[in-house]
Amino acid sequence: MNYNEAYAKLEKYGQLHVLKYYDELTSDEQKELLQQIEDTDMEVLALCSHRNEPDERGKITPLAVMQLPEIEANKEEFTSAGIDAIKAGKVGAVLLAGGMGTRLGSDAPKGVYNIGITKEVYIFERLIENLLDVVHLTGTWIHLFIMTSDKNHETTTRFFEEKNYFGYNKEYITFFMQDMAPASDYEGKVYMETKSKMSTSPNGNGGWFLSMMKWGVVDKIRKEGIEWLNVFAVDNVLQRIADPCFVGATIRKNCAVGAKVVRKNAPDEKIGVMCLEDGRPSIVEYYELTEELMNTKDANGEPAYNFGVILNYLFREKDLEEIVAKKLPLHVVEKKIPYLNEKGETVKPEEPNGCKFEQLVLDMVYQLDSCLPYEVVRNYEFAPIKNKTGVDSVESARALCKENGIEL
Ligand code: UTP
Repeated sequence: MNYNEAYAKLEKYGQLHVLKYYDELTSDEQKELLQQIEDTDMEVLALCSHRNEPDERGKITPLAVMQLPEIEANKEEFTSAGIDAIKAGKVGAVLLAGGMGTRLGSDAPKGVYNIGITKEVYIFERLIENLLDVVHLTGTWIHLFIMTSDKNHETTTRFFEEKNYFGYNKEYITFFMQDMAPASDYEGKVYMETKSKMSTSPNGNGGWFLSMMKWGVVDKIRKEGIEWLNVFAVDNVLQRIADPCFVGATIRKNCAVGAKVVRKNAPDEKIGVMCLEDGRPSIVEYYELTEELMNTKDANGEPAYNFGVILNYLFREKDLEEIVAKKLPLHVVEKKIPYLNEKGETVKPEEPNGCKFEQLVLDMVYQLDSCLPYEVVRNYEFAPIKNKTGVDSVESARALCKENGIEL
């Protein structure tokens, strides 16, 4: 894209400020900026003005969850089906580690955070150890795909290399990078990160499969005969990955996707709950849960929307290829975005100051015909680290690790 074309594109979207320092830039910087202008989807910036409007939802009804007693009663059958699938090389795992972890407040990727007390215990290390449990149980290496972003790819890959992949077989680890989206102020004006670069941020955790396709990773998956992908978040240090019983239950129930869920600890807990939306599996966010839904009871007199998702899903690979052909909705999220001020100085805000645009993995579930919500014991499998202290923090995760006999 040449200067005139870039100017026209920016003018169309009301973003001419992006060229403010153009004349001061070196010719390489000018080229990079023009390339970035060409590559950036500026249409999304208009979404800022709609950020406070609630998403339109269909009719929400309960979706039955496979609860612990049912799982216990069928444990042997499910586990052996899961082990068979793993041994046949049909199961891969996808670690979503492209997020910025802004709430944790560390500049490094979340996975390199050390949660140890008497020794070093990194978040990535905990996850690899959990996956190794299944590798040892099945005698099979499970291919782990790790999604990074432009902001943390180098640091993440270097870290794994330095730590010798925490004992994992590196032949079975593949990194790929997610796409980026522009980041703007509340008026939808894109922020500048430097004089020659617009602010960008990872485009949410919903774009993972599309990014896998772009990186040629899906070809690898097909070649290896992987049929199921267990997608999970970086921040749950008790996460069970490629859990044979969960894998077997999803396969035996012939569902397109399995979703690990936990029983809510309070009716208004800030966690998205499984439901049906217009008859399709879906997730209703905690802020969308009306009093009426919160008070709805199931046939046993239990709350009907009582199980929250923990970002651990098992997707059937061939369905994903169909899903990505449809466009997932974009969500506007308010975040802290470092930017260049009027004087050309970098500012790191203390409070959210603008919008990022994200696709979410939970929207993929709605695209599928059937879902198995699968209950896990909360204190054994759910220790998310979002903040430094308080709820879902390093502190709370350490306490849960201790409860599970994990030395820190
Ligand atoms: P969160 O929604 O907690 O976002 O991510 P985050 O960026 O890690 O943290 P905050 O909100 O800025 O504090 C849930 C999971 O999705 C991944 C994260 O790495 C985490 O595993 N994620 C999120 C991505 O892989 N890419 C993204 O663009 C966003």
